[in-house]
Amino acid sequence: MTEFSTFNGLRCSRTGQAEAADSPRNLSAAGAPLFASYDLEKAARTLRLRDMAGRAPSIWRYHEVLPVSAPERIVTLFEGMSPLLAAPRLAEALGVTKLWVKDEGRNPTGSFKDRGMSVAISMARALGVERLVMPTAGNAGGAAAAYTARAGLKIDVFMPRSAPRANHIETRLYGASLTVVEGFLDECGRQASAFGQANGAFEISTFKEPYRVEGKKTMAYELVEQLGGDVPDVIVYPTGGGTGLVAMWKAFDELEALGWIGGKRPRMISVQAEGCAPIVKAYHENAETTEHWKNVTTRISGLSAPRVLADRLCLRAIRESGGTAIAVPDEVMLEFVALAGAREGLSVCPEGAACLAALPELVKRRDVSADESIVVFNTANANKYTDILAGSGRGSG
Ligand SMILES: Cc1ncc(COP(=O)(O)O)c(C=O)c1O
Repeated sequence: MTEFSTFNGLRCSRTGQAEAADSPRNLSAAGAPLFASYDLEKAARTLRLRDMAGRAPSIWRYHEVLPVSAPERIVTLFEGMSPLLAAPRLAEALGVTKLWVKDEGRNPTGSFKDRGMSVAISMARALGVERLVMPTAGNAGGAAAAYTARAGLKIDVFMPRSAPRANHIETRLYGASLTVVEGFLDECGRQASAFGQANGAFEISTFKEPYRVEGKKTMAYELVEQLGGDVPDVIVYPTGGGTGLVAMWKAFDELEALGWIGGKRPRMISVQAEGCAPIVKAYHENAETTEHWKNVTTRISGLSAPRVLADRLCLRAIRESGGTAIAVPDEVMLEFVALAGAREGLSVCPEGAACLAALPELVKRRDVSADESIVVFNTANANKYTDILAGSGRGSG
């Protein structure tokens, strides 16, 4: 018999201990993120690379390896299936030869956050949650607001005053209650948790909730599908809380078990802002955990995550893959937003531009060779960042 989902429970990402999945869950008993697991042998019988063509053009084409148990329980706006675009003119400018951009700016609310929210909100509703709360650097707030509206639920979003104006506006337009916070994501997290406890709202912050990772892992499924069962040599990913990085690393193991790929893995390269780089610092100091980044000076919202809850998982993905971590100044990111626009017509957010900006330095340091296949994730649309782009003198007349 074929099954819609082969989800078979939650496990602690640190101890491997099985934990209950029949109620809304946050961290494991050991205080670590929970990971969803699947019967991949069963999933492999129907989830076959060669049969994907007829499936829905959204993340839900991979329903066997997502946790939602039935189609009617899905909350979707048709997220995912973002294009993988060759960028030869940009490659030339960066001194590499094989460059692709996976353009997540095409998602319903303009960022990759939609993938995680579609799964997390579907699961929250299926488990009987009516009221949610979430801290966000910006884009996840807009995404969460849209998907809770789509599900007919309520959410309170805590977002820094310094987040892009577009994120404040979209969150309100999608009907969420927005609290503007003086401070960064860590302070938003503190206030959101306190609010959740006081008001009985379920908290869906990064890695405290187990299913956002599941939505984001579909970026790796799509990439492998778009490359016809291949993986690139290198993935360059902008890292705040680290869900994108960790989720894709989880996905590659699943994809091998499903028989879609062999043992080769891409090297995972994490890019942060010089003004908030806890993962880059820990990586180069050979540390297993990150320290709280006390003096956040970057203005790039998606890269302003001073505390990294899943630090061990991020560092493990980078190290096991043979990747590295690198920091980029804000000003250089903004130059690369303009370069990607002018060279390729791509609407690249500063976080995605950070990855492009890192490439010449990565080649110089011999972390990447010029002829390797490289996939850069553009995690959002540049249109969300008009305030910072106009303020930098770019794009204003
Ligand atoms: C555009 C953009 N890129 C990257 C990130 C970082 O993502 P992650 O938390 O998965 O590391 C964010 C998070 O806010 C973001 O909004």
